[in-house]
Amino acid sequence: MALRRRGRRRPDAGVAVDLSTTVGSVALKAPVMTASGTAGHGDELAAYVDLSTIGAVVVKSLGSGPWPGNPAPRVHPTPSGMINSVGLQGPGVTAWRERELPAVLATGATVVASIWGRHVDDFASAAEQLAGVDERVVALEVNLSCPNLDGGAHLFAHDPDATAAVLRAAAAAGLPMWAKLSANTDRVVDVAAAAHEAGAEAVTLANTLMGMVIDVDTRRPVLGAGGGGVSGPAIHPVAVRTVYDVRAALPEVPIVGVGGVVDGRTAVELLLAGASAVQVGTASFADPRSVGAVLEGVETWCSRAGVTRVRDLIGGAHG
Ligand code: SIN
Repeated sequence: MALRRRGRRRPDAGVAVDLSTTVGSVALKAPVMTASGTAGHGDELAAYVDLSTIGAVVVKSLGSGPWPGNPAPRVHPTPSGMINSVGLQGPGVTAWRERELPAVLATGATVVASIWGRHVDDFASAAEQLAGVDERVVALEVNLSCPNLDGGAHLFAHDPDATAAVLRAAAAAGLPMWAKLSANTDRVVDVAAAAHEAGAEAVTLANTLMGMVIDVDTRRPVLGAGGGGVSGPAIHPVAVRTVYDVRAALPEVPIVGVGGVVDGRTAVELLLAGASAVQVGTASFADPRSVGAVLEGVETWCSRAGVTRVRDLIGGAHG
């Protein structure tokens, strides 16, 4: 989808909008990115969106080696969203650098890498494999919050000390780190503080919420792994609250907001709650053009509201 150039006066005579933002030390040309796990590992969305126009492509989390993921079925629709238990299938960091990264860089995209692990050493190994990566990989999102590994047995983001240990290990990548956290815990503010203290420049709020769907005819869970993570519009108010609370408690910590972003208004809501940028995930499963449409929706909303710089919206809901 072609997007208007930044700063161009819109045909509806609204004001021109500067869409640029920053997440910690990372400057982004636009405040809308793909969410990890919803845009593949490479240029999968390039046929639908000009990836050079969005804030960044955040790739699906990569392990220290190839991993087959969880048994099928892995995704299932839910009211106003979906549930998944993909289980972090992927080629591993080194194979990704060789086989997938060149294609996404060729689109002109800014890239954010993402890693996962079962243990701290796994994160260290994955991070070491990223050292010296192309400078267009501008940040590393550290996935501390996948609910689908061994039934949720590795939810580092539920504990401040475990989160800090992972981030200290992930620093081996030499990239600005964003800690992807969980809203399944009432400790998210403590965990965000620990993540920042341990070196994360920003936190990504938040991953899917733990859930389950049971087929009443078979009397069994529909997903092959049993439980999964719920995403989409159903969890948007949870994402807004999580971003709002962390911003209120830790105004010095930059936030990337994610959860149920489907259009300009839902993206602006997260910015007003305190996010410096947002990610679009589940909407891309319904329409792979969604990330471009959301960015255009943000620009249109700002233009009509007389907002000339999108970054002026950040945290605007806090009195
Ligand atoms: C998955 O691959 O199971 C989803 C990843 C995540 O929720 O972090």
